[in-house]
Amino acid sequence: MSKPKALLAYPVVKEIQDYLEEFTNLSTLDFSKPNTYEDVVAAIKDVEGAVVLGTRIDENLLSHGSKLKVISNITVGYNNFHIEAMKNRGVAGTHSPGILDNTVADFVMGLLIATGRRITELNSFVKEGKWTRIDNSHLFGKDISGSTVGIIGMGRIGEMVAKRCSLGFDMDVVYYNRSRKMEAEEKLGVRYVEKDELLKISDYVVLLTPLTDETYHILSHNEFSMMKKDAIVINASRGPVIDELALIEALKEGRIAGAGLDVYEKEPMDLDNPLLKMDNVITSPHISAGTQKTMNALAWNAAKSMVSFLVHKKAINIIPEMKGDF
Ligand code: GLV
Repeated sequence: MSKPKALLAYPVVKEIQDYLEEFTNLSTLDFSKPNTYEDVVAAIKDVEGAVVLGTRIDENLLSHGSKLKVISNITVGYNNFHIEAMKNRGVAGTHSPGILDNTVADFVMGLLIATGRRITELNSFVKEGKWTRIDNSHLFGKDISGSTVGIIGMGRIGEMVAKRCSLGFDMDVVYYNRSRKMEAEEKLGVRYVEKDELLKISDYVVLLTPLTDETYHILSHNEFSMMKKDAIVINASRGPVIDELALIEALKEGRIAGAGLDVYEKEPMDLDNPLLKMDNVITSPHISAGTQKTMNALAWNAAKSMVSFLVHKKAINIIPEMKGDF
């Protein structure tokens, strides 16, 4: 039996590529250069399946890939999928849930502590030779232990962050979510509050929602104006859950104290983005899941999901909106 044609649109370790080559007639993009959406469109023509990371899967791309049966996202987030367009063309989407939760939660704690205690500023201060006297009170930060953290989006990652904050750092943890998480409330001592209440009482506001129509710009002008003046915002979910211009304005006007950001409305971000000039903003390049171990596990999951669908005719890791369709 001939192997199905497939595309690998993101570089993975050799073992995973070997596995894909064993089961499919695999083509890859040119990984010696950064690839664009157009590169994927140009390579999608004859393939039945593709492993992607972050590529926008929209009607235009699908119209160039009329043989497509499945797109396997390396990531857990799948806001790059235009679900209706995929459904209309009968193309399945898979993703990678339950793999990166601890890795991302660790990174969120890193961002939270680094922003609250101003660690990158301290690092520059010392390395730039500015540490010339004992009184450094102008560099004092904000406590982590004993403060209140408000988590918006209590999914698996939210729970892992709540666990660290509550059990590890003795923080008061409140959360806002579409549904109550009774088990987490009992196990971790976290408390459900409405969004406005969360914004009013939290010292740290942590965003961990998927990006959907409901969560788009969930923090905007109105929300920033409700927050404490010394509040810090942490975002390691998706950039557009924050209205970035409103965030910039709130930071400039001192309506909040700082932000730790792994994600942005435009990625990679423009070099003239004002966030890059703010000392009270810590930035990282959408890398909260970025350990080799976790990235390999995510890529394995995508590769196996695609092969399972195309070769073994078994749909696994299908996104929730398509469950039961395949
Ligand atoms: C990373 O951002 C993911 O969604 O897996």
